Amino acid sequence: MDRRVVIVTGGAQGIGFGIAKCFAETGAALVLADLSAPRAEEAAARLRADYGVEALAVGCDVAVRADVEAMASAASEAFGRIDVLINNAGICPFVHVMDMPPEMWQRTLDVNLTGPFHCTQVVARRMIEQGRGGRIVTITSLAENVTAPTQVDYGASKGGVRMMVVGFATALGPHGITCNAVAPGMILTPMTASHWEQPGPAEFIKTRVPVGRIGTPVDVGRACVFLASAEAEYINGVTLRVDGGHQAVCA
Ligand SMILES: NC(=O)c1ccc[n+]([C@@H]2O[C@H](COP(=O)([O-])OP(=O)(O)OC[C@H]3O[C@@H](n4cnc5c(N)ncnc54)[C@H](O)[C@@H]3O)[C@@H](O)[C@H]2O)c1
Repeated sequence: MDRRVVIVTGGAQGIGFGIAKCFAETGAALVLADLSAPRAEEAAARLRADYGVEALAVGCDVAVRADVEAMASAASEAFGRIDVLINNAGICPFVHVMDMPPEMWQRTLDVNLTGPFHCTQVVARRMIEQGRGGRIVTITSLAENVTAPTQVDYGASKGGVRMMVVGFATALGPHGITCNAVAPGMILTPMTASHWEQPGPAEFIKTRVPVGRIGTPVDVGRACVFLASAEAEYINGVTLRVDGGHQAVCA
């Protein structure tokens, strides 16, 4: 089979870069679309050096339609087609809902909910034109089901994007394009490092995550590779939790 062409939004660091590394191990060509073009370029250079794959960095704000259109054009021009889209870019300001300025609320929804809408619609149109089907995986969170006072905006965006995934699964299935979500639990990344590296939260992980450790970006990447594989062709519209069993714990 030809090497597959995979777009990872927010691919410059954290979970997105972990996902990109897992696809690079399969020989895929990567497009890292990130708000930070310089960090995306550094990450792409690492993929080229460590895995010998093709990797393109594109500066892109997923909340801006024109950026997303330009990013998809750049991917098609560079590699001839797009096979897989991973909607990973996301933000979590961790501000109490009673103190949250409306602009901050709106930005979380724009990036976490409208961003995946733009990317899915724009890329799926290209996949339909290509006529080879495709795979779309969106990174949600355990916050698609549960939340906290400092994550009300985040939970609303992730709950919304879960239903967006289900809706696109119904719309795109007839074109051979599957749409699924991966919901990570506690994952050590630049977004969360300052929290999990404190003594209290580290103890929380040991007692509340049945497998006894924090998750890694590669744990999430492996689930994405599976959902994008031939083995997953009949899986459509689901959320796969990657949380070490955390959400299964009730006491
Ligand atoms: N880390 C966790 O524990 C955890 C848990 C559940 C879900 N998630 C989700 O995983 C995804 C990645 O999280 P992370 O922890 O790796 O975050 P991170 O902050 O470490 O990395 C996010 C990346 O996305 C990029 N980005 C941010 N806004 C963007 C935009 N508007 N357009 C394009 N790129 C943008 C950033 O530049 C950065 O490179 C997010 O959707 C997040 O909600 C993370």
